[in-house]
Amino acid sequence: STNNAGTTTDAAASDASSDTSNDAAATEAADAGDAAADAATDADASLADKKVGVCIYQFSDNFMTLFRTELENYLVEKGFSKDNITIVDGANDQATQTGQIDNFITEGVDVLIINPVNSSSAATITDKVVAAGIPLVYINREPDEEEQKRWSDNNWDVTYVGCDARQSGTFQGEMISAIDLNKNGKVDYIMVEGDPENVDAQYRTEFSVKALEDAGLEVNCLSDQVGNWQQDQAQQIVANALGQYGNDVEVVFCNNDAMALGALQAIQSAGRTVGTDIYLVGVDALSEALEDVLAGTMTGTVFNDHFSQSHSAADAAINYITGAGNDHYIGCDYVKVTKDNAQDVLDMVK
Ligand code: GAL
Repeated sequence: STNNAGTTTDAAASDASSDTSNDAAATEAADAGDAAADAATDADASLADKKVGVCIYQFSDNFMTLFRTELENYLVEKGFSKDNITIVDGANDQATQTGQIDNFITEGVDVLIINPVNSSSAATITDKVVAAGIPLVYINREPDEEEQKRWSDNNWDVTYVGCDARQSGTFQGEMISAIDLNKNGKVDYIMVEGDPENVDAQYRTEFSVKALEDAGLEVNCLSDQVGNWQQDQAQQIVANALGQYGNDVEVVFCNNDAMALGALQAIQSAGRTVGTDIYLVGVDALSEALEDVLAGTMTGTVFNDHFSQSHSAADAAINYITGAGNDHYIGCDYVKVTKDNAQDVLDMVK
């Protein structure tokens, strides 16, 4: 858990109370000065006492773990005190997360960064956060157009930071259409979807297939099931589908890499070989998936840039605090990853 503000504060407090010598106090003061100089420019110095509340939909999600780790590091780099950054786990339950948001409001945080459990709850969340006078940065799960329009119509301090999921789906389809499948004139595929409430799952599913059609290929969906972004669920789904459709399956599309890793386990258990008699793509560019792309055991993935997204989210939070303000939508590009550039991406994410 990154919600360690409590323990850090306790340790600092007991240090300070047991430290009575002048030498120690002088050293501490010097250290504090150095740290402040390192961490912050003059403009950022005021951030040290600002409180940030971060709500993550589910800590066990691989991609969101990379995201929140980088977010915390970058906030500290920008001058926030680690003690003033509280990151909480919504445990994939909107009621739990709503309670956490209520607590942050009561506590009086200076800014909220929220990865909603259900994007459809965004209007309710926005209303209470705006009423409390707290600026709000949504991340990763994009609220719908109608909701985003309210932010601009009312000139609220609310924004969304994320990538356009259509691009990731298109990249997946392009990696497959570049292969000469050379079988029966159509592409027989399995689709494994993330959480269906999520626009990332909807768009990746739609646009990966659309890219095949746009390339002039005929498509045939053998199976389309929900794996909720999770490796174990995808493994089960793909094992069943391979059992049912056998060698007819040419392509496995997974809405993310965690599920592609599960799919790969099922593919290997079924005695199939990626790159030879079956093709597999994911999204995120988890290091394990990148290793598979390099080894040829995954056809490709799409880099979901958690550095850029977490930095933009933190920068947006800072812009609200300093009064600079933000646009109501802050975008980011995906990157197509095949064997050719997988090592470069791996060097970057490791
Ligand atoms: C997607 C990501 C998935 C999962 C999901 C959570 O962007 O590709 O792996 O983390 O967000 O909303």
